[in-house]
Amino acid sequence: MVLLLFVRIQYAELFTTSVNDVVTKDVEGITQPMSASSSISSPPVACDDDKKTSSSLERDFLEIAQKTGTDKVAAYSYLPSCLKDRETCTRKDCEREACRPWGHFYDTIYNRWLKKYSSDDAERVQFLEIGFYTGKGFEAYSQFLPRAEKHSMEISCIEPGPRSEGKWPKEWGNFAIQSPNYESLREAKRLHCGDANNYDFLLETWTKEMKRPDAPPLKVVIDDGSHITEHMATSLFFWLPRIEPGGILVMEDMQPISEANGFRTHILPQVMKDLHWCGDKNLKDTRCLPTIQPFLAGVHCEMHICVFVRNDVASIEPDKNTSMTPTNAFVDAQKCLFGPHFEFVKMNGIMDEDV
Ligand SMILES: C[S@@+](CC[C@H](N)C(=O)[O-])C[C@H]1O[C@@H](n2cnc3c(N)ncnc32)[C@H](O)[C@@H]1O
Repeated sequence: MVLLLFVRIQYAELFTTSVNDVVTKDVEGITQPMSASSSISSPPVACDDDKKTSSSLERDFLEIAQKTGTDKVAAYSYLPSCLKDRETCTRKDCEREACRPWGHFYDTIYNRWLKKYSSDDAERVQFLEIGFYTGKGFEAYSQFLPRAEKHSMEISCIEPGPRSEGKWPKEWGNFAIQSPNYESLREAKRLHCGDANNYDFLLETWTKEMKRPDAPPLKVVIDDGSHITEHMATSLFFWLPRIEPGGILVMEDMQPISEANGFRTHILPQVMKDLHWCGDKNLKDTRCLPTIQPFLAGVHCEMHICVFVRNDVASIEPDKNTSMTPTNAFVDAQKCLFGPHFEFVKMNGIMDEDV
């Protein structure tokens, strides 16, 4: 119910744009609709390098995503009117102006990290977005990354039935079916209906549909699913060791909302602490999250979104226990963050004893 309310509140009024019947095929031959105002692939954006051929021109995520109507960049459209009349803002009480309108400003993150995969001759990579909804975000990624093998996961298209039986109540509706690509993506085994917080579903989709010998390397996982803390942690712990070196895991919607707060306050700070870990016994240097620390090169965050960057350690196939969120990841957060090192800081008089 929490999930339903959350999804309804955040998205109900938004994904109403109708799609037209203009259809094309992406590089993989999957049927893709196009908005009436967009062309087959949005015009590539010229790069600094004049020597680049037209086929190597990279695309612009903002331009593409504004056409598909995803909330990932919608804040640009809503901000001006919201600033003029605060009553029209979705979150009018926020002190920070950029937080008030509906939508986000995620184009800077996506351009920075994914532009290199956006040209017609880019390296072929595998891509997964968790949370398809009606497919507007997926459509934006499809136009932005025409060469990538794109997958998505969505819970609302599972078998209808009582939630208590692990099914999806009919009255809640199948959001994904509203996408004109629904059938073709299902047929092509690119849209996977299931619970992205369920280990068995994740493992089955990964091993049967994604980790194929002919598949390009998994380089991008984006979590735009429930935005529930526990689910966000599941994505991080399951996917990070499986992403190939140099890849990224993107966590969207980390703004202060009750569902997501725990991820931002308990998991992210521990990841940040672990980034600087050296294993120094004299300083009682311990890792908070040892199952993912060995795979991390860095974390890049902008407002409400973080990118967890894979280092060059080869991907692994962890067992079930190692794939899941450690049982103490939340309860031990404070101890790990303000444990031995904090005592050391206090002992040396760097901090006020009362802190
Ligand atoms: C924020 S919307 C996704 C929006 C979409 N990515 C876009 O840009 O247009 C979140 C979606 O995640 C789905 N979802 C929620 N919990 C999920 C779960 N545990 N597994 C898979 N999908 C889930 C919801 O049904 C909803 O459609």
